[in-house]
Amino acid sequence: MEQKQLENLLGELSLEEKAGQLVQLMGNFYETDVEAVLTGPGKNLGLTEENIRLAGSILGTYGAKTLKKIQKNYMEQHPHHIPLLFMMDVIHGMKTIFPMPLAQAATFEPEMTEKCAAAAAKEAAASGLHVTFSPMADLVRDARWGRVMESCGEDPYVVGKFTEAQVKGFQGEEPGAPGKVCACVKHFAGYGAPVAGREYNTVELSEHTFRDFYLKGYEAGIKAGAGMVMTSFNTLNGIPASVNKKLMRDILRGELGFDGVLISDFAAIQETIAHGYSENEEKAAQNALECGVDIDMMTGVYAGNLAELVRKGVISEELLDESVLRVLELKNRLGLFENPYKDASENEEAKLLLCESHRALAREAAAKSFVLLKNEGNALPIKPKKGQKVAFIGPYVDRKAIISSWAITGDTDPCVTIQEAAKEIFDASNTVYLEGCPILDHGYAAHAFRRDDEKEYTPEEEEALLREAVAAAKEAEIVILPLGEHFLQSGEAASRAMLDLPEVQMRLLRAVSEVNHNIVTVLFSGRPLDLREVSRYSAAVLEVWFPGTEGGHAIVDVLTGRTEPTGRLPISFPYSVGQVPISYNAYATGRPDDPNGTDKFKSRYLDIPNEPLYPFGYGLGYTKFEVSPVRLDCGQLTNAARLKAIVTLKNTGARTGTETLQLYLQDVSASVVRPVKELKGFKKVTLAPGEEQEVSFEICEEMLRFLRADGTVGSEPGKFRVWIAKGSTQGAPVEFLYQER
Ligand code: GLC
Repeated sequence: MEQKQLENLLGELSLEEKAGQLVQLMGNFYETDVEAVLTGPGKNLGLTEENIRLAGSILGTYGAKTLKKIQKNYMEQHPHHIPLLFMMDVIHGMKTIFPMPLAQAATFEPEMTEKCAAAAAKEAAASGLHVTFSPMADLVRDARWGRVMESCGEDPYVVGKFTEAQVKGFQGEEPGAPGKVCACVKHFAGYGAPVAGREYNTVELSEHTFRDFYLKGYEAGIKAGAGMVMTSFNTLNGIPASVNKKLMRDILRGELGFDGVLISDFAAIQETIAHGYSENEEKAAQNALECGVDIDMMTGVYAGNLAELVRKGVISEELLDESVLRVLELKNRLGLFENPYKDASENEEAKLLLCESHRALAREAAAKSFVLLKNEGNALPIKPKKGQKVAFIGPYVDRKAIISSWAITGDTDPCVTIQEAAKEIFDASNTVYLEGCPILDHGYAAHAFRRDDEKEYTPEEEEALLREAVAAAKEAEIVILPLGEHFLQSGEAASRAMLDLPEVQMRLLRAVSEVNHNIVTVLFSGRPLDLREVSRYSAAVLEVWFPGTEGGHAIVDVLTGRTEPTGRLPISFPYSVGQVPISYNAYATGRPDDPNGTDKFKSRYLDIPNEPLYPFGYGLGYTKFEVSPVRLDCGQLTNAARLKAIVTLKNTGARTGTETLQLYLQDVSASVVRPVKELKGFKKVTLAPGEEQEVSFEICEEMLRFLRADGTVGSEPGKFRVWIAKGSTQGAPVEFLYQER
């Protein structure tokens, strides 16, 4: 539809129809009769039959047949036959589930993530969806926060690259194109920094920390053209995000130039009352609309107040029209006025969902996301051979729930378990597969998850599992121990104060280590954990996160060396939860500690080191690489000329391998203190044994910019250090001067 036609349509709408376009309800409200909704969930929301008939979008329902039926029925009864928008959390896959986002960031391969998002978009579009509530661009330094699994970690450059990649994958050039959906960058803003790591808690960020770190991911997603942004639940500097004018009008719409649809998070507008900001729903509606929040997700706040607020002259109809037009423009951008069903097709669903090519991509992405944290005595790779006694022992040996708590459209049945994959390769007569222990401690699930559908074991059953496991471990040449968090221990509303594996699993590990030292621990987790004891008892530790549908195949591929582990940590694994929040790009302080020093009056702990157990950017492979000292093509950088930093990378091992070289810069002194180092680039390089290659990075003035003391963003002349290394704690820097011309 032409813009003029859209504006004419807007002019024809009643106030109720306009307000309706800004209301989003659950899709299942449209799969049953209105009466049942009004007396049920709709009643609690104070919804009227008209609110339901006029709502502009729905969430949480998918499937070509279902959505085509809902759209047809809805448009027939709508006074102006305006199509509904269909939205869903397709976070890391629709039916083919790819590794969770933090795992994808560990690939340090945004191109891979773009492919995964594109595949997810095809499946989502065929299933009738128009918008996905993804990517999550929240930067996270706190492993206690459950949604760290949905993030791309602690570094603004990595978060930016992977947010951009997801937007491009989901939307392509245009979200209205076949097989594409509109991306929604979330949660604006700062949601990943809740005080004490506790879900939905207050966020306190200085302007510098907010702008130099936390804002970068959203900025990248908006620059990539995301059609939607979602508000966050948290307050920022004392004001809930959904009613925070500075955040939404000045920064989001003003500085970042976002002119798409801004949707609230689930009930976030209504929750500004609980926050102690809006005194009632009427004020909440006014406050949010004045901030340019265009859609109220799943409450009756907009539905029950906007039309009346205009009639009373409290808000202008122009303000209402501004939001309504943005929603109509998104529907138009998706082509819904011409084709309200877009790509919905049962035939395409049957062809695309879980198709072989998507499964193959999921397997490749998963293998690339794994991070080899320890590999003593080259315990890995395992060369399966006839007669070799191997024991797979642990709750994840044959567990299909390996797709994360944000794979809500996915299913576990299609998942490949480790056991299923191993049976394709390992000698059946000499390989055992045992559960070894429950995945959770007794009684944990009912309390933590507030649901009791997790199988509970009697003490006798647990003892029997343990005895069987120890007996098998005693006989085995190698024990592979797939342990990990329960998938509900990370994700939304899953903050944890401790970062340990369940005690019942640690008991298994200790018991097995009594009789066998050749232990390979395979770790499923949605977050960094405290792995000191796991590492102590294991010859090798492989972090596999929640790897998705093809997890089992990918894990066996890496365990047996068919694929090399090339993942690098996108987030620090702390020595203990006491260090959290922790990140590599911290400030030096006035008393930086020297771990080998004797002066106690330094920035340090009495009882643990400052360094994480496994640092940002770290990861091992199956070969060895040497990196030469950094060379610069000249000693000075100016705003008119770039500088090139070069190293020579050599594969000194016995097999082809891939290294991820990382470029770090440090601004040694500036008008505000600057991080000890910041990632500014990374490159994955694959070399054959003995092969060597020059690898260079261009350094430009833009990389040096930050929020200066005077409140402007820019660079400052002075001394800089540059590293090109295999991780944030490796390599030696060289210096250069930056001078303005
Ligand atoms: C949830 C999440 C948000 C999600 C939305 C819709 O509470 O915070 O990320 O997109 O509700 O499911």
